[in-house]
Amino acid sequence: MTQSGTKEAFERVQAAFRGHQTLQLIYLGLELGLLESLRSQPATPDALAAALSLHPPYVRVWCEVGTAFGVLAVDDAGRYRLAAGMDTVLLDADHPRFVGAFVRGFMTFLADDFARYPDAFKHGHIHAFHQHGEAFSAWVSNVTHPMQRLVAGKILPDQFGSGLQAGIDVLDIGCGAGQFVFKLAALYPNSRFTGVDADPHGIELAQRAAAINGMGDRTRFIHTGGETMPFENAFDLAVMFEVLHELPVEVRPAVMRAAYRALRLGGALFILDETWADDPRQLVEPAYHMSVLVQFSELLWGNVVYTQDQQTRLLTEAGFVDLQRGDLGGTFTLITARK
Ligand SMILES: C[S@@+](CC[C@H](N)C(=O)[O-])C[C@H]1O[C@@H](n2cnc3c(N)ncnc32)[C@H](O)[C@@H]1O
Repeated sequence: MTQSGTKEAFERVQAAFRGHQTLQLIYLGLELGLLESLRSQPATPDALAAALSLHPPYVRVWCEVGTAFGVLAVDDAGRYRLAAGMDTVLLDADHPRFVGAFVRGFMTFLADDFARYPDAFKHGHIHAFHQHGEAFSAWVSNVTHPMQRLVAGKILPDQFGSGLQAGIDVLDIGCGAGQFVFKLAALYPNSRFTGVDADPHGIELAQRAAAINGMGDRTRFIHTGGETMPFENAFDLAVMFEVLHELPVEVRPAVMRAAYRALRLGGALFILDETWADDPRQLVEPAYHMSVLVQFSELLWGNVVYTQDQQTRLLTEAGFVDLQRGDLGGTFTLITARK
């Protein structure tokens, strides 16, 4: 007789193994070009191996396991192709549901981070975002790119489109490699953009990109933490894209006060972030899937995802009024507030 719950627990862990191996399989498929090749042309394992100069028996197992995991599908002639939708979520870097870049970093940067967890749990130290290096900062901007496209192309225009069209001053706090600024600058040629970030790698990437893409006249990037921004009454809109939960907790009030000072009267603050549950039992709900993923993978960076109450208190104590909350895809939090 099985002890109550044992079967369910066993199945849950088995499913986790399959999930972990699915990510390993996708990672291999991205790194070796297997997924890209099958997107353009279904193939037998031997033909796929020959096209990519890979070892045929390994490619055969990759194809068969990929089918078992629902990443691939096979026809009666033994030709493999991507399962429905996989081309979009794994290879279409512009699509809002693209997670290919996330899988890549999850299996590399975040796996390296995870190796430090046992020690960090014992000693409480952090390995901050900016300590990861330039390749990491560039990777983060690939992960945020599809969501940024959606927000720059749809969410922000709905709220601030007329101002952006007419020409306003926009501040991106925690701009990273500057990709959100560039997207907005391309869409709104009459507006001017400033990005600040505590990460020198992100700012260098942004400055280099601005020199190449010719947007240097309407964009500028400054290496400074949000808490030390020197601006006063200089901006109409400030944005924080996946930044709030990344700010060291001790500087959060100072960053929000500096953001408030930086805005003109009536100016708006727009935040996209995750929100933690008031009661940890709520974390099983789909609305918190992203928050859980982010909080656990970014624990080592010192990141803390705030609850709704903590977010509200932080903004109101800095002076912001007229807070409005929404969500994106049922899992990202959107907050707008006014000075
Ligand atoms: C997840 S990244 C998002 C970057 C960018 N907004 C994007 O969407 O790609 C979070 C950013 O917050 C920045 N950050 C952390 N602490 C900061 C601070 N005190 N002031 C300004 N930026 C900070 C990090 O350096 C990092 O670039």
